[in-house]
Amino acid sequence: MTIKPFEKKIWLSSPTMHGEEAKYMMEAYETNWMSTAGQNINEVEAQMASYVGMKYAVGLSCGTSALHLATKLAGEKFYGMPRPMQGTLQGKRVFASDVTFDASVNPVAYEDGEAVFIDTEYDTWNMSPEALEKAFEIYPDTKIVVLAHLYGTPAKMQEIREICKKHGAVIIEDAAESLGARYLLNGEWKETGSLGDYNCISFNGNKIITGSCGGMFLTDSKEDADKVRKWSTQSRENAPWYQHEEIGYNYRMSNVVAGVIRGQIPHLEEHLAQKRAIYERYKEGLKDLPVTMNPYDAERSVPNFWLSCMLINEEAMCRQVRDDQHALYISEAGKSCPTEILETLAKYNAEGRPIWKPMHAQPIYRSHAFITADGIARGISNAYLDTGRSIDAGTDIFNRGLCLPSDNKMTPEEQDVIIEIIKRCFM
Ligand SMILES: Cc1ncc(COP(=O)(O)O)c(C=O)c1O
Repeated sequence: MTIKPFEKKIWLSSPTMHGEEAKYMMEAYETNWMSTAGQNINEVEAQMASYVGMKYAVGLSCGTSALHLATKLAGEKFYGMPRPMQGTLQGKRVFASDVTFDASVNPVAYEDGEAVFIDTEYDTWNMSPEALEKAFEIYPDTKIVVLAHLYGTPAKMQEIREICKKHGAVIIEDAAESLGARYLLNGEWKETGSLGDYNCISFNGNKIITGSCGGMFLTDSKEDADKVRKWSTQSRENAPWYQHEEIGYNYRMSNVVAGVIRGQIPHLEEHLAQKRAIYERYKEGLKDLPVTMNPYDAERSVPNFWLSCMLINEEAMCRQVRDDQHALYISEAGKSCPTEILETLAKYNAEGRPIWKPMHAQPIYRSHAFITADGIARGISNAYLDTGRSIDAGTDIFNRGLCLPSDNKMTPEEQDVIIEIIKRCFM
């Protein structure tokens, strides 16, 4: 069978609109609430707080702003109000997920702190509890952990929360990718976005529901919610004029964006079911290949299956090299690699993506500490001794894995073609 390129591009994960979004946006327009206040924001905050199971939600311009203010709150909790012209984390370390989007960890730098990257485990592709425990042994004074649930798969929260509790540390939960995913915590099912001390979600255009952009901070603390709302609207003090005692930001959600989100919320369950069906179809369709899907703990978690990913078995990898900008591979019968598959998908007008490149390997963060279950993973080889090879799970998953087209508008027939394209890469 000859495969023809898709006429309409198959996206990795694009916005899926339903109609109500336009109604609520128009409502903002017609009532002239074209602002960072209005009924759509109030509704979206109330509905999301209730869905996630938190008392308060603060609508923000994006997930990154939510993460920034969460990071700043955590910084002030432990280290107090910063000195003028300094971030709250000056000279402080923060433990952070390594395989994540850089928006999880950049706020640590905004606040003048140093992210220390914690290696990944193979069961969920998230922060390794063993590596985190090791990190506390090495840097016992650390008080803040930023944790992401990669591709919508919950991390091992039971273990991670217990480790943090033991060390008196708080968790900034980055649930940007995982809205709708659930986790069994102490025998009780909880939504991601309610599992940390400071919780953040994103409504970016590629997320499971979207406002075109937008983000949210979720908490049970009225004081924290009020503070985030204040900071997000330029930190105005109670005075007749613009009076400021702390640095402010223009981070509040727009009422127009909130209108889109308000129209999307009723479709969240539908999107979750579509994403799960896509994952299951890949799992079945790829089962005879030397690959596995992105894994999850079926007993303790229900992912939102935001992105379906695959990992090529080590023995089925053809040779592939990557520098900071390019990738090359040597094609080999019976084998393949992410570069070959991504390039082939692109040729057929379908969008996949490499696994998020680990933060410790990013040029901007290459000088930061990186901790695996064995300890500090920098400078561990020796020109004069064979010290063996340390396992860096994040880099391994980055090298062998890829994100598959996971758009919920992709039809089963289109997905069958994608599966066939992937199979041919291994021929
Ligand atoms: C893990 C993670 N954290 C944070 C963000 C940032 O969210 P936003 O794009 O809404 O700022 C994203 C995605 O965009 C993400 O995937």
